[in-house]
Amino acid sequence: MKIKIASYAGFCFGVERAMDMAWNKLEENSKVYSLGPLIHNRQAVKKYEDKGLKVIESLEEANDNSKIIIRSHGVPLKVYEESKEKGMEIIDATCPFVKKIQDIANKYYNKGYKIIIIGDSSHPEVIGINGWCNNEAIIVKNIEDLDNIHRNYKKYCVVAQTTMNLKVYEEITKKLNEILDNVEFYNTICSATRERQKAARDLSKEVDAMIVIGGKHSSNTQKLVQICSENTITYHVETIDDLELDKLKKYSFIGITAGASTPKWIIEEVVSSVEKL
Ligand code: F3S
Repeated sequence: MKIKIASYAGFCFGVERAMDMAWNKLEENSKVYSLGPLIHNRQAVKKYEDKGLKVIESLEEANDNSKIIIRSHGVPLKVYEESKEKGMEIIDATCPFVKKIQDIANKYYNKGYKIIIIGDSSHPEVIGINGWCNNEAIIVKNIEDLDNIHRNYKKYCVVAQTTMNLKVYEEITKKLNEILDNVEFYNTICSATRERQKAARDLSKEVDAMIVIGGKHSSNTQKLVQICSENTITYHVETIDDLELDKLKKYSFIGITAGASTPKWIIEEVVSSVEKL
């Protein structure tokens, strides 16, 4: 049996960096807080909690002078200020690509621009970016949101959530260009999601069956499952325990991919079990 892993699978650069930073800190100190779960993967969260990570929903839950890790999505400016007031050590694992967006929002806000964020207003990354322009950004998720947009500002600066769909982004920016004057656009979409989807699509066309590894509730994993199912029979598993190895024996070529929040060790467990077939 031949096995091939998609050329892009599992953690993106920013998530891997954040997970490594958290792990290294836990190795030297037994207790670190994380504002919100580091990642949407039950097995990974459990492993980090066993090592001493404590997930909290607000800074009030953290002890003064303790350590806090900021996850890859980033946080509003006020979280840094409040953490400092509490004497906390900040381990800043904000993805550098997200940090760049926060800097753009902050710089242009201070220069008097109205910030427009193309993205989902309830997503932590967008909440974080908005917190760098005094929570005054206009947030648009789709073309319909432009119907009621205020046109009375002198100048605008547009940024996008890193995981925004490129087609929707282009549709919105085209319309913004038509209806507003003095607009600066920054396409801040990160290519990691697109690369993973393309690699999964390409591989699923080559193989007899695909295994997609990732949380049942992870939306990017579900998207990979959907893409692969369009081309071949696809098995979605969270861990090796979900995999019915007997069913795979009939295939001669199996492809494997994983969602952006699937740790390497879970991927390796699946790969080595399939290899034994
Ligand atoms: Fe960063 Fe892109 Fe991942 S913005 S967290 S590398 S999806």
